[in-house]
Amino acid sequence: MTRNRWDDHYARRARDEKWLARSVYKLQEIDKKFKLIRKGDRLLDLGCYPGSWSQYGIKKVGPKGNIVGIDLILPEHLSSFNFRFILNDVLTVDTDWLIREIDPRDVVMSDLAPQTSGIRLTDAARSMSLTKKASEIAFALLKNKGHFVCKVLEGPDLKPYMSEISGRFRQLRLFRPKAIRKRSTEVYLVGLEFVE
Ligand SMILES: C[S@@+](CC[C@H](N)C(=O)[O-])C[C@H]1O[C@@H](n2cnc3c(N)ncnc32)[C@H](O)[C@@H]1O
Repeated sequence: MTRNRWDDHYARRARDEKWLARSVYKLQEIDKKFKLIRKGDRLLDLGCYPGSWSQYGIKKVGPKGNIVGIDLILPEHLSSFNFRFILNDVLTVDTDWLIREIDPRDVVMSDLAPQTSGIRLTDAARSMSLTKKASEIAFALLKNKGHFVCKVLEGPDLKPYMSEISGRFRQLRLFRPKAIRKRSTEVYLVGLEFVE
């Protein structure tokens, strides 16, 4: 059997366990550690395609919670009565429009990934733009004491940006789940208990 170089343990496990992507194991580990998602929560999933984070969210929040997902691509294999998909570009979407469309959220999560060039500094800068817009949306939509989790590629602007926004959360951490591929510069920003 031929396997491509990304067909690792997590990818195979995701297929066996019927998750839409291996990324689910990153969120699962973050959630286990920081206890972000609870029954009845309302979640916003930025960069939700193909849908494993939302799929995990749907299971965790149960029928009384709901999830809104945004992406440039329709997650065609994901459907649930409490999942709403918005086809849009996070970088250009009008945050005021989102506030009118979506009620306040308990958790805003972003697994947004830029088109990568292979040049570390360029990719980190692209990722930082997505992170800044994801945080702007989180600040507009999070309930008091809500949580924020956001993928970011490490680069020179990350630590200064963390200092800039640290006052918005009771705690702001960086966390690297085990499912991140070894050579990746990816890390997750975790903001606990948003201060409105
Ligand atoms: C790593 S994938 C997300 C995987 C997802 N968390 C899951 O578990 O299935 C990153 C996603 O970010 C989306 N994305 C990148 N830039 C975007 C943008 N500007 N607006 C909306 N979505 C974007 C991509 O289309 C892609 O689907």
